[in-house]
Amino acid sequence: MKIVVIGGSGLIGKKLVKNLRQSGHEVVAASPSSGVNTITGKGLAEALAEAQIVVDVANSPSFEDKPAMEFFEKSGQNLLAAEAAAGVKHHVALSVVGTDRLLASGYFRAKMAQENLIKASKIPYTILRATQFFEFVSAIAQSATEGQTARLSPALLQPVASDDVAAVLADIAVEKPLNGTIELAGPERIGLDELVRLFFKATGDGRKVVTDVHARYYGLELNDQSLTPGNNPRIGPTRFKDWLKRSLPPTQIVA
Ligand SMILES: NC(=O)c1ccc[n+]([C@@H]2O[C@H](COP(=O)([O-])OP(=O)(O)OC[C@H]3O[C@@H](n4cnc5c(N)ncnc54)[C@H](OP(=O)(O)O)[C@@H]3O)[C@@H](O)[C@H]2O)c1
Repeated sequence: MKIVVIGGSGLIGKKLVKNLRQSGHEVVAASPSSGVNTITGKGLAEALAEAQIVVDVANSPSFEDKPAMEFFEKSGQNLLAAEAAAGVKHHVALSVVGTDRLLASGYFRAKMAQENLIKASKIPYTILRATQFFEFVSAIAQSATEGQTARLSPALLQPVASDDVAAVLADIAVEKPLNGTIELAGPERIGLDELVRLFFKATGDGRKVVTDVHARYYGLELNDQSLTPGNNPRIGPTRFKDWLKRSLPPTQIVA
């Protein structure tokens, strides 16, 4: 089975390409660094020739409102048109849990636009909405930091390891298209403030976390429903504490 992974050089893309190859599929890792660009269309038709399945795990190089919208609209339009021409039978895309509740943010409006293009196309699809990756916690902390203080909401989230996201995507890609959306989360719910506190402690980061119910997350005020999945999400098994131990160099682990 020929499977094209758009964004195959990214965090999720690399792991997904490896998983699918290990299962014996012919996999094309497609992204600008390998000569395939969904914005300009360069290399797209060639990459998709004879492909049955496309998994889109590309991301916008900019998270700002306008460039993110331009990226997901243009990339989605070009990709879906190229897939229709190539006769692709299953389009899989990675989105974010809560996208429809987070539309005050330009990035999530752009992800919603990506999802809507997929639903409006005639190509059978499955959308996987995942929660925040463990690998993203450092960026969340950074975006909340002023001086030596990170101001964070105590709103709950249920983050997931990128390894678990890639594993679920590899399964979904070869399953029957759902023409629907499923959710994926990690095994534990935790406040955003507490999650970053754990991260700072484990990495010996001297920054202090201040809990503030009004602290914004990429411009959004959160509640316990904003970032958490609904009923019956798929659950990635990796716990944050185990991921920290596994991912950080031994010298960096403090607790
Ligand atoms: N971060 C989170 O916590 C989170 C949670 C849920 C869902 N998601 C979603 O997960 C997806 C993947 O995220 P990630 O962190 O794995 O992304 P990433 O590591 O930033 O990788 C982005 C990928 O997109 C590719 N790309 C950029 N411009 C492209 C273009 N014009 N044409 C084709 N490919 C292009 C890049 O290729 P080059 O390397 O060649 O430039 C790279 O392979 C995103 O859609 C994001 O919304 C993220």
